[in-house]
Amino acid sequence: MSKMDENAKMKEDLFHVIRVALTGRPQDIHTIVRKLTRKYKSDDAAFAEQLTELLRKSPVRASPARRAEPAGLPLDGDSRLPLVRLAENPVLEIEPVYAEESWSSLRQIVNEQQGLDRLRAAGIDPTRTVLFTGPPGVGKTFAAKWIARELGRPLATLDLSAVMSSFLGRTGNNVRVVLDYAKEHECVLLLDELDAVAKRRDDSTEIGELKRLVTVLLQEIDEWPSSGLLLAATNHPDLLDPAVWRRFETVIDFPYPSAVHLSDVCRDLLDDQADSAWPSVLGISLQGSSFSDAVQSIRRAKRSAALNDGDIDAALAQLVRSISNRLDRAERQELALSLTRDIGLSQRQASDMTGVSRDTIRKHEREAVGA
Ligand SMILES: Nc1ncnc2c1ncn2[C@@H]1O[C@H](COP(=O)(O)OP(=O)(O)O)[C@@H](O)[C@H]1O
Ligand SMILES: [Mg+2]
Repeated sequence: MSKMDENAKMKEDLFHVIRVALTGRPQDIHTIVRKLTRKYKSDDAAFAEQLTELLRKSPVRASPARRAEPAGLPLDGDSRLPLVRLAENPVLEIEPVYAEESWSSLRQIVNEQQGLDRLRAAGIDPTRTVLFTGPPGVGKTFAAKWIARELGRPLATLDLSAVMSSFLGRTGNNVRVVLDYAKEHECVLLLDELDAVAKRRDDSTEIGELKRLVTVLLQEIDEWPSSGLLLAATNHPDLLDPAVWRRFETVIDFPYPSAVHLSDVCRDLLDDQADSAWPSVLGISLQGSSFSDAVQSIRRAKRSAALNDGDIDAALAQLVRSISNRLDRAERQELALSLTRDIGLSQRQASDMTGVSRDTIRKHEREAVGA
């Protein structure tokens, strides 16, 4: 990197830290400093060590979630609890990775918002409403955070599963209050867990209330101004009233992550092992998991390693073994074979991690070559 690029990058980091220092929560600063520590580790180990030392000396107490709730947030009429969660400066603990198709749609949303003036000059409205669909833990809520961070706007989240659990009769009104709030403030609004609305459908005593709620939602989505960005997320698009679904201008689907994307996330989380075979091994082993489950598993392994003299190799091998234990015979052999053939582990390593005997691996390798 040239001196000038380096300088620009550092200014960017500094700016980021200052912005969050002025408005964010202490744990957000910690997240950022941890990331910087990782980033600078290879170039300037001494500096990274200083940062680590700072973090060690100032453990944060998690600040109460509602402490910094700014005045004027809409409250539930009875409970007086805030209806939305507001993240002034969304901080991502890892950099997201998405399938190329999801990425290009996400980037397009951001590009449109950043180019509002040009769109207006051309007499074109930006995308106002976007629906994220996909199974749990694949990064729908995360994508909303990412968009808000890229746009430098606060993220206001209305968790419908939470609102729906209170009195249904009030929900429609609460939704209105929240949307009105979001229209007046420059923010990105996320209606999270939208399917919660549909899930109540089976209770016939509430049919009338639900109909009213859906009507409110439809109206609000239709009337959403082109100056704002309304995002919604659902794990069960099939449960959603097609009328609601159709209202969104763009639908972005998030599939289960590929092995390559899982290994990218593992690389991000495993700083010291980034250049080892581990990210690839874990990517293949974790295939079929959501990002969320993968992240939890790696964090757990890091914790056990830290408690166990820092033996991360042992902890990760244990993780692969426990995944392998849950597979059936054929799947386990498949995994062992991928580890030798695709990742280049030795037969012994693959056998240790999967419990498949070396003989069996050899036999299958021969068959694969013969086929
Ligand atoms: N695309 C992604 N890239 C990296 N990490 C991700 C991604 N998606 C999810 N994660 C991890 O999983 C966690 C849960 O994801 P979330 O967005 O809440 O899932 P959901 O799709 O259920 O809303 C995130 O906080 C993040 O740690
Ligand atoms: Mg979510």
